[in-house]
Amino acid sequence: MRKKIVGTSWKTHIYSMVEGKELAQEIKERVGYVENIDIFILPTYPLIPAIADILQDSHIKWGAQNVSHREKGALTGEVPPRILRELGCEYIEIGHAERRNIFHETDEMVAKKVKLSLDYGMVPVVCIGESKEEKDEKLSKVKLKTQILWAMNDLGEEERKKVILAYEPIWAIGQEEAAHPDYVEEVHSFLRQTLQSEYGNESSDMIRIIYGGSVNSENALELSRQENIDGLFVGRFGLKAADFERITQAVLQVKDKYKERMVR
Ligand code: PGA
Repeated sequence: MRKKIVGTSWKTHIYSMVEGKELAQEIKERVGYVENIDIFILPTYPLIPAIADILQDSHIKWGAQNVSHREKGALTGEVPPRILRELGCEYIEIGHAERRNIFHETDEMVAKKVKLSLDYGMVPVVCIGESKEEKDEKLSKVKLKTQILWAMNDLGEEERKKVILAYEPIWAIGQEEAAHPDYVEEVHSFLRQTLQSEYGNESSDMIRIIYGGSVNSENALELSRQENIDGLFVGRFGLKAADFERITQAVLQVKDKYKERMVR
């Protein structure tokens, strides 16, 4: 059984130390005790040590929104994976649409970052997703499969199983509404089948596929209910601790339902 997971990236929405520390503290007070699902927060790089300090005695993990594609060397402005590991990072977000589009990150770089993160014992959260144009041209599946094949390119089976795929349709990021839960389920089920045909049952059963793109406290429950949605990845609507708590509760609620069903 895949453990449910909810995570949030603060992007640069949180852009002061004080604000970041206060938010982490409040989130910890609200959901820091939760053990049945995994929870993570990805602040901007310089906030990581302060957030680590706050969260270290809770069940909430932390990580980074990016990592260098090479281990070390002449890469001005990049952050090496080793330092992130030393700061206690457990999750590394890789290939977000903003990184791919604004910073021209390629599938090849994504693949290198995935491998490096795993080499340093961190879990890559690999973002994949199609644009509106690709969706309209019925190219979504080709795009998503290509992104998966690249991301998994250099990995052995045990490494592959640790990867988290975050399906984030580009047209649903930063909107009022998330993608419809039925649509997301259909895509996630395609992703699961792709994993199965490429890598076999064991990998496809283990790899968690989460959804991101305008997740909020209203749509979280319906999204989490879908069979192939293993968790949620939250942006703007997780910037208030009370909202993040509601989203976490939605994922927890569904998880507990599964447990009841299995016990019966
Ligand atoms: P959003 O961001 O929830 O603000 O749409 C989600 C994301 O980009 O992961």
